[in-house]
Amino acid sequence: MTDFQPIIDNITLQAKKQVDKGQVANYIPEISNVDPNKFGISILDEKAQLYSSGDAKEEFSIQSISKVLSLSMAFSIVGENLWKRVGVEPSGDPFNHLSLLEMENGIPRNPLINAGAIVVCDILISNLKNPKSEFLEYVQSIANDPSINYDEKVAKSEKETGFRNYAAAYLIKSFKNLENDVETVLDFYCYSCSIRMSCEQLVKVFYIFMNRGNCLQNNNYLKLPQVKRINAIMLSCGFYDEAGEFAFEVGLPGKSGVGGGIVALLPNKFCVATWSPGLNKKGNSKLGMSALEKLTTETGLSIF
Ligand code: DON
Repeated sequence: MTDFQPIIDNITLQAKKQVDKGQVANYIPEISNVDPNKFGISILDEKAQLYSSGDAKEEFSIQSISKVLSLSMAFSIVGENLWKRVGVEPSGDPFNHLSLLEMENGIPRNPLINAGAIVVCDILISNLKNPKSEFLEYVQSIANDPSINYDEKVAKSEKETGFRNYAAAYLIKSFKNLENDVETVLDFYCYSCSIRMSCEQLVKVFYIFMNRGNCLQNNNYLKLPQVKRINAIMLSCGFYDEAGEFAFEVGLPGKSGVGGGIVALLPNKFCVATWSPGLNKKGNSKLGMSALEKLTTETGLSIF
């Protein structure tokens, strides 16, 4: 077993010293005031041993990381039918781009770009009685942590300024790939993105994807072939037009969010989450990416 503690302590020390930490996202006003000097990292290994360093207990807005969780819930409800509504190819475009959506008749390239996650939210709304509370309960039960919650201020702030998401949703609706009305779908989408978690909570939730569909309490939420598909989508699409770079530098399936979080995993070995609010030009956490590159290079632990 690898002792991750000295490795992540050293990574945290180096991250805290970095001068260029990237830019905190400012297009959602409510998350623009986060301290750019925060840095946290947690690892949960296959024996459920937790290692943490820096600001790993502090909660932040998980934003797009939630797309993996809504995908996972929708996939477990509708199964392979999901892929009639959304593709599985990397887009090579930023997370909020619209042009492919028009050219490809309202079928988003994959479930991890905004347009794809909007379709996944539509599927959940059609299949759940109380989508907001049932989705939150799903996330809480995977993590065995009832304290995980939405941040209503962030959800409202994004709804007021999410013009591109409205544009995407109306375009999808025009191609008849949205069953519910745009307002209802975007309300649920913004709530799902507003969930707050710490690095320690994130690794507990994502343990299920590294542990063959069994969560920490050993409940089986996903079948192994479904976990394979979700991890493949994270590898090819989790970092938008930087997915190739992330595979090249880090070599793990993972997902980022504009709140500065990244979560990644090596199947059957470990799950890791980092938080550093400054983003690079592609909208992924700058120091988070370099921390994960150091981790997999120093330990030799990656899928390659
Ligand atoms: O829809 C949005 O723009 C945000 N709620 C989520 C975007 C995001 O996190 C992209 N990730 N790197």
